[in-house]
Amino acid sequence: MAQNITVIGTGYVGLVSAVGLADFGNMVTGVDIDAHKVERLSRGEEIIYEHGLRDYLHRNLASGRLKFSTDIRGSVAASDIVFIAVGTPESDDGSADLRYIARAIEDIAAALTEFTVVVTKSTVPVGTNRWIGDEIRKHAPDADFSVVSNPEFLREGKAVQDFFHPDRLVIGFEEGTEQGDRARELMEDVYRALYLIETPIVWCSLETAELIKYASNAFLATKITFINQMANLAEACGADIHAVAKTMGMDGRISPKFLHPGPGYGGSCFPKDTKAVVSTGNRFGVQMSLIEEVIRANERQKELTADKLKRMLGDPAGKTVAVLGLAFKAETDDVRDSPAITVVGMLRTWGATVRAHDPEAIENFSTLFTDGVSYHENEFEALKGADALVILTEWNAYRNLDLEKARSLMRGTVILDSRNALDPDEARTLGFTYKGVGR
Ligand SMILES: NC(=O)c1ccc[n+]([C@@H]2O[C@H](COP(=O)([O-])OP(=O)(O)OC[C@H]3O[C@@H](n4cnc5c(N)ncnc54)[C@H](O)[C@@H]3O)[C@@H](O)[C@H]2O)c1
Repeated sequence: MAQNITVIGTGYVGLVSAVGLADFGNMVTGVDIDAHKVERLSRGEEIIYEHGLRDYLHRNLASGRLKFSTDIRGSVAASDIVFIAVGTPESDDGSADLRYIARAIEDIAAALTEFTVVVTKSTVPVGTNRWIGDEIRKHAPDADFSVVSNPEFLREGKAVQDFFHPDRLVIGFEEGTEQGDRARELMEDVYRALYLIETPIVWCSLETAELIKYASNAFLATKITFINQMANLAEACGADIHAVAKTMGMDGRISPKFLHPGPGYGGSCFPKDTKAVVSTGNRFGVQMSLIEEVIRANERQKELTADKLKRMLGDPAGKTVAVLGLAFKAETDDVRDSPAITVVGMLRTWGATVRAHDPEAIENFSTLFTDGVSYHENEFEALKGADALVILTEWNAYRNLDLEKARSLMRGTVILDSRNALDPDEARTLGFTYKGVGR
């Protein structure tokens, strides 16, 4: 049966979820405190870059199953299920900042009428869903509701595909209560389309669901950091990290995914979620020393990238560096905690001028750096007159970079390829001083 759903927050997770849940046949309202976003979305403008999103957005707006609004309370009052998908950024002390969640809960509590399932999609520390239940009861003692933890695992850049074909769904609910059972039934209904394609659904407690999300992200961040350190070692001792990683990945216990060396992980999730795991550990008196070291090693990896370029280039003061790739990874416009922020920042501190290009992320990145950084509409414009080229994001367009043309446009011959996107032999044959990572 189609459900009436409100999704609070129309960012990467909320927007993709709203569009996807509407496509499953539900009646969905995406609500946000940002009136400008709501206005643009209502007109069918995609406010983020995600492959495939536009078609789904238009189709579901046209069908009348999807709409956007700033009237959070009105929408919640008319819903059977409310998904919370607001941001949970990092606080100064590393813990997750729950202020947006708190504000959403206030609105929910003020608007609950009939039995409603309150689902947290945002990534929140262990214990938060119980706290959400307590807070709602505090504001609205008579409210009839149940809390569900449904953490999201979609990857930016592949968010639409991941929403419709997730590896698994994790649904934590209030086991052993009548309301919990009703919530489970409604959640089964909402995700029927995924159940029908045999998506594994893990039903568990609220705390287990919350920890599954953090454990998964902390593990992936650890895997990336592991291969980055191995790449540094491979480079120092003359081994080839690609052969090492590929062969490691042939071992079924290891898997080849997330074994690509680079300038360090970034984005809106791994950096803040690893810190939040450490903070949760402190709260429960458990030292998360492995994750603490992952966080430190990842920061070092970003700085090492800039240091390596400095060694290749000599004193960067007065030099011009072409930076290709500003997003934290390919296929997204997200620059949150991107390695490019560290590298461009260090280059500017050392007195270099930066000519930057990214296929999607210039708008977001240009709010962070203006002085001494120019932004260009294509990679060749960025390369003009550069003493060095550094590749920071693995966009496909950079893998196929016309190196002969690059050679003719650049003043210098230094290439630092922090994603191993280029062919080292071709670069060297053309007279470039080329370095990749771990090979
Ligand atoms: N981005 C990802 O790849 C990803 C993946 C999995 C999980 N997550 C988690 O999902 C959550 C959301 O992440 P995101 O990247 O979509 O965030 P985002 O910053 O892109 O979007 C959050 C949206 O919520 C809105 N908002 C904030 N407070 C609100 C309120 N009280 N009422 C209504 N709207 C409100 C903001 O205006 C914004 O549009 C976070 O907890 C994040 O950790 C993100």
